Amino acid sequence: MNPLQWLFSSYHRSSGSSLPRRIYQAYLRSPGLVRWHFGMRLHSECPVPQFYYNVATILMRWVLVDRIERLKQPRMLEIGVGAYALLAGALYQGFRLPIDCCDNEEWAVEWAKRHAELNECQLNVFYSDLFSGVEEGKRYDLIFWNTPYHIPNRRFLPGLFAGAVKHLANRGELVICYKTATNRAETLEILSDYPNLEVREIEKWWWNPIEVLIIGRKL
Ligand SMILES: C[S@@+](CC[C@H](N)C(=O)[O-])C[C@H]1O[C@@H](n2cnc3c(N)ncnc32)[C@H](O)[C@@H]1O
Repeated sequence: MNPLQWLFSSYHRSSGSSLPRRIYQAYLRSPGLVRWHFGMRLHSECPVPQFYYNVATILMRWVLVDRIERLKQPRMLEIGVGAYALLAGALYQGFRLPIDCCDNEEWAVEWAKRHAELNECQLNVFYSDLFSGVEEGKRYDLIFWNTPYHIPNRRFLPGLFAGAVKHLANRGELVICYKTATNRAETLEILSDYPNLEVREIEKWWWNPIEVLIIGRKL
C-alpha cells in the first residue's frame, strides 16, 4: 500500500477528528499537492475552500486518461468543472485537446475561466445547468462529471441521462462516479429508465469505496 492509499483507506475507516482525517483534509487543501497531482497553479486571489478536490477527482482522472488514450482526438465535455478546473486542466495538459466545460454556479464558471487562463489550458468554460447551455445538436465522444456529493442522485441523474442520450456521439461514453455501492444500485435503477444507454464498465479500487461508472449508447 502506498502512503496515499493508506491515507485514503484510513480516512474511510475513521471518523470525527481522527489523525488520518486531519491529514486527509490538510492534503486536499494543499496548493502544492494540487500542483503535484494536477499540474495546475491556483490563483492567489481565489477564495480557499474546505477542499480543492476530492479522491474522486484523482480516480476520474486515472479512468479518463485511459479512455482518452483509446479514443482518437475525442470531443469532450466536463459537467461541473468547479472553480479550480483541476480535472479538465490536468487532462488538457496531458493531451493538449480542447475541452468544453460547464458548471451551474456562476462563481465557479468565472474562477474556472481564470484558472484555465493562468495555466494556459484551452478550456471553453460556460454556464450550464446540466446540458441547458450546450449547443443544440452538439455531440461528444466523452462526457464526464465528478458528481456532487450532497445532492440526492434523483435530482440530477435523470436530467444527466436524458441529456447524454442527445449529446453522446454514437460510440461516445459518459463517465461518472459515486461514493458507495448503495449509490450504485440507485444509479443503475435510474439508468434502467433510459433504454438507449447501457453500462460498459464499473471501475473499483480496494482501498476506497468510490466507483467510476462508464456508460455508453446501446449499439
Ligand atoms: C464534486 S464537484 C466536482 C469539481 C471538479 N470537477 C472536480 O472533479 O474536483 C461537482 C461540481 O458539479 C457542479 N454542479 C452541480 N450541479 C450541477 C448542474 N446541475 N449542472 C452543472 N454543474 C453542476 C458543482 O457546482 C460542482 O462544481
